[in-house]
Order: sequence, then structure tokens, then C-alpha cells
Amino acid sequence: DGQPTTATLQASKPGPVYNKDVFTQFAEHLGEGIYGGLWVGRNSNIPNTNGFRNDVVKALRDLSVPVIRWPGGCFADEYNWREGVGPQAKRPVKINTHWGGVTEPNTVGTHEFFELVRQVGAEAYVAGNVGNGTPREMAEWVEYMTSPAGSLADERAKNGHKEPWKIKYFGVGNELWGCGGNMRPEFAADETRRYSTFIKPPAGTKILKVAAGANVDDFNWTETMMRVAADRLDGVSLHYYVHPAGGWPPRAPAVDFDEHGWADALAGARRMDDLITKHSAIMDKYDPQKRIFLAVDEWGSWYAQDEGTHPGFLRQQNTLRDALIASIHLDIFAKHADRVRMTAIAQMVNVLQAMIFTEGSKMVLTPTYHVFEMYKPWQDATVLPMDIKSPWYGKDEFTMPAVSGSAVRAKDGKVHVALSNLDPNQSNTVTIKLDGVTAATVSGRVLTATAINAHNTFDAPEAVKPAAFNGATVQDGSLVVTLPAKSVVVLELQ
Ligand code: AHR
Repeated sequence: DGQPTTATLQASKPGPVYNKDVFTQFAEHLGEGIYGGLWVGRNSNIPNTNGFRNDVVKALRDLSVPVIRWPGGCFADEYNWREGVGPQAKRPVKINTHWGGVTEPNTVGTHEFFELVRQVGAEAYVAGNVGNGTPREMAEWVEYMTSPAGSLADERAKNGHKEPWKIKYFGVGNELWGCGGNMRPEFAADETRRYSTFIKPPAGTKILKVAAGANVDDFNWTETMMRVAADRLDGVSLHYYVHPAGGWPPRAPAVDFDEHGWADALAGARRMDDLITKHSAIMDKYDPQKRIFLAVDEWGSWYAQDEGTHPGFLRQQNTLRDALIASIHLDIFAKHADRVRMTAIAQMVNVLQAMIFTEGSKMVLTPTYHVFEMYKPWQDATVLPMDIKSPWYGKDEFTMPAVSGSAVRAKDGKVHVALSNLDPNQSNTVTIKLDGVTAATVSGRVLTATAINAHNTFDAPEAVKPAAFNGATVQDGSLVVTLPAKSVVVLELQ
């Protein structure tokens, strides 16, 4: 509508910390998410360390991945941890009933997961089995992983790891309303009370317990879980996927979309703001101090699988559109940083909105990877309020503010500003009044491309990658930025 975009960045009114665990990544036993994508085995020709591929681990280290969520997802509520410890050759081969009906060799189990966590330099988010496991199995698994003494600790040592591991987060099941047991909310909340009773870390240590939360806008689920089980919990989760064209299973193409599909998906990403606001308001009723965090531990795009890929493997190409979906989410999480202290994108490698694709020995980074890299200064930074007033962008029935953004003061004291232009057709000049920041210079990078569906392939791995950006200046106490159409810009003020 031709209005200029304006904002005030209020550095004099610092907000909450942007918890680095918002950048958690989810790695499920699904398709090539683990096998092939992360794990190739010690005897593989693909360069690896203790079975995990060096190229992928290096790329993940470069992102400073804070936490890895494992082993599911739906996989978690059928997982028997006992089948994944001990000599690999003796582990039972199971059927992955959720994901493609393929065999699950159990080669990657608890010890291998913690080896991945160690190599990446992350912490652990383990999802327990409430669906078809018992509280005793869950208790024994926690003891096996964390106890310094006792028979289970001895068994762990015999299996190669004397030192106990640290579990930062433990999921009390996953999607108990669906694949985790098709429970009604009252029953799920009671089961959550019961199972969480038996998650007992050793004295002097703490495990943050996360309840399996609501699907999208199931506010009654959050209400019931909070009313019945809040006193047993540290976090309650929320799952919401962007899937343009509606319906389930998702059917929109990952690459062959037009502007209608672009706007549909970005409006879908914007919806996260409303969902968090409403779930959080319910949590406020029971927990006004915000002791319990909302863990958005599955988010991202979900499209039809790429043609020719194995059914149930959820392999989908990742385009510039996904980069914007990521930046929109990360900005929304800044707005809700007081309540949203952990989130996990789905998923890490080869599955859904992936950071990385592999094929044999080849690896490629996605546009989403680059956004996570550009937002690294947000990890444990202080959120600075920045209210953006922008014109609207719209296509067909989908309308939204054209500019998304967030600002932080990083741990090193520098102010960083992220701005995304959702309009694929027009550039947008944003004028941000700087309140409480004395900056003389600005530098930054931009992620954009000519086509809305630009993406990286093994043959053209750098079609979408960050480039130096010189469209920003500081003038008379304001930051003036000309955002190219369909771009993500991240700036640093000096
Ligand atoms: O991320 C894929 C699947 O989506 C997860 O296993 C499940 O929790 C959700 O339905």
C-alpha cells in the first residue's frame, strides 16, 4: 500500500534472554534422518568418526547446535531402549512401523546418540516411551544414562561408557493425542503425572521434564495438561507444521510452487505467533510466573515428498521459501522469549525442513541452514523490543505484514538486527529509530535469489547462500535498510 516501513529499536528497554535452546534440532529414526544422514558406520568409505560422518558433524558444529532431540517423534513411543544397547551385531532388527515400514537395525542406540551429542558439542533431549513402554522401562533408561553407580551404571560401563551422561531435557512421550497412544487429554495428563514421577536424575542433578503438548490449536489439551500436571513439569510442548494447500497428509510441492504457494506458506509461518500467544495465555492462568516453558519442539514446513523418494521418508527439497519460513519463526520466538525457551525444528538432516541433505558421500547445505547460521548471535542474547510497522503483502486470500524482524544484544555487547522481506516482488526500505544504541556503522549479510523456489542441489550447492550486504546505513540515529524482495538480512551495528 505504499506506506514506508518504520520501527523503533528500544535498546534501553531490554527484554528477556533468547534462549540458545530455541535452536535445538530434531533427529528422528525416520528415513535417512539418522542412517545415511548422520550415521554411516565405522567401516564406511565416507569419512567418519566412530560411525558419524565428518562432513555433517562439521556443518552442525559450525551452527553451534545447542541440543539434539532424539529418537522421535512417533518413533519414540514404540522405542525399546534395551534393543539399542550392547554389541551392535546382537541388537534386534525391528520394523519402523511409522516411517516407511523399513527395517530398523538399532545400530544407533543410546551410546551412539550420546557420541553424536559429544561430537556436535550439543546437549541431549531424549524422548521417552509413554505410548507402549512402562514407567519401569523409562525409569531404568534414565538410570542407565545418568546414574554414577548401580547395576545399570555397571552395564553402561561394560557397554563402553563409564561416565554417566547428562540429559538436559526428557520428553514424557510424544504426541500422546496421536501416534503416542491416541489418548484423551485427561488420560494423557494423568499418564504424564504418573510417568514423570519415575524420571529421577541422580541427587544434585536436574532433568527438565517436557510434557507431550498440543497439536496446533488444541487449546483444551494445553488447558488440561496445565491444570492436571503442571506441578510435575518444567515444559509443555506444542507441535505446528506449515503445510500449504491444507489437508493431511501434506500435498503441496516443495519446489514447483507459484506465488500463491509462497504466500500460503509464509502466512502459515506467521500463524505461529497467534498459536503461541493463545497457548501461552492458557499457561499464564496456571503459571503466571512463567516457570514452565512452552517447548515448540516440532516446527517447520511439511510438503509432499520429493518424487522418487521412498514412501514415508519425508524427504522434501528446501528453497528460499523455507529460509523465510525459518526467519519468520525465529523472529516470532524472539517476541515470546519469556515463555518459549526451547524449540526444535523438524528435522536435522534429510527429513522435512532439513538443514542438510546427503546422498551417499555427497552433502549440501539448505537455505534453512544458512538462516540458522545467520541467526547465531541470537543464541543466549538479550531480546531488544522492535515494533515494526510495515505495509501489507498479499496474494489471493493470504495477507500479512511484508516485513518480519527481531533484534538482540548479543553476549559480546553488539546489537544485531534481522529483517525479512516477505514480498517476492518489491524491495522495502525500513527506517528504524535507534533508541539506546549508539552505532556509527552497520554491516551484514543477505540471503536471497532470483527465483522464489531457488534451492541448492548436489550439482549446484551454492545457488542460495549468504552474500555481503551493503544496503544499510546509519543516519541521524536511525538505521535505514533497503531490503531486496524475498530476502533475509542480518545486520550488526558497531
Ligand atoms: O517430524 C515428523 C513427525 O511429525 C514426528 O514423528 C511426529 O511427532 C509428528 O507427527
